[in-house]
Amino acid sequence: MKIGFLQFSPQFGKKQKNLERVRTLLKNTEADIIVLPELFNTGYTFLNKNELSQLAETKDGPTMKFIHTLSKKLNCAFAFGFAEKQGGKFYNSTAFITPEKSIKVYRKTHLFYEEKLLFEPGDTGFFVFEYHKVKLGMIICFDWIYPESSRTLALKGAQVILHSANLVLPHCPDSMKTRAIENHIFIVTANRTGKETRDNKVYQFIGKSQIVAPNGKILVRVRQQECLRVVDIDPGQALNKKITEHNDLLKDRRPEFYIH
Ligand code: ACM
Repeated sequence: MKIGFLQFSPQFGKKQKNLERVRTLLKNTEADIIVLPELFNTGYTFLNKNELSQLAETKDGPTMKFIHTLSKKLNCAFAFGFAEKQGGKFYNSTAFITPEKSIKVYRKTHLFYEEKLLFEPGDTGFFVFEYHKVKLGMIICFDWIYPESSRTLALKGAQVILHSANLVLPHCPDSMKTRAIENHIFIVTANRTGKETRDNKVYQFIGKSQIVAPNGKILVRVRQQECLRVVDIDPGQALNKKITEHNDLLKDRRPEFYIH
């Protein structure tokens, strides 16, 4: 399976420009799945719900239509972060869409910082779905700091986690190496790069998008530049949870001793 990420620097509120930038950077990419950053079409720093309301979309909105057109043209599925509007509520969501227009939407479970003033905590939970016979799951940015997010997806059978992000704290890329090892799964983190300054607050996004293998090997990690990377992975590697002939990562858990 050819899987990749697009790291770029969305401009706040410039939706059409951000969509066009994605189309330009993707050119004639050949991949099965591309992951885009969290809130890739709008940018991150909404000042209030009124502003969010102007930029958020329903899951069948113009951004979904745009990405679906791209998906058909490139014959590639996409996971992309967007501000979702539904029934007067807002969610920080990631959509997965295939060329055949099969759509899944995950809503961010663990909101970060002032997102808590804008978005509802996600109500979808962590779920697994299949594409090209590979089991996939989604998390969004700050979900990374809760090992339960990746663990839940691994327990549900995920082989690859699609992780859209707008990271500002420095620890995530290294931590995802551990998340991959402790669950024996692939993790694709598509972060954004660049800076947003709004209301005297500066958000510097750290870049460092990456793809990590089940053995913790970083297959690719970039720096701050806008770029696309695609890696050919064998998702079958994530099915083997044996560490030694006596140790199976998931079967050897002792949940009776864990706090829920
Ligand atoms: C984040 O969750 N966007 C840091």
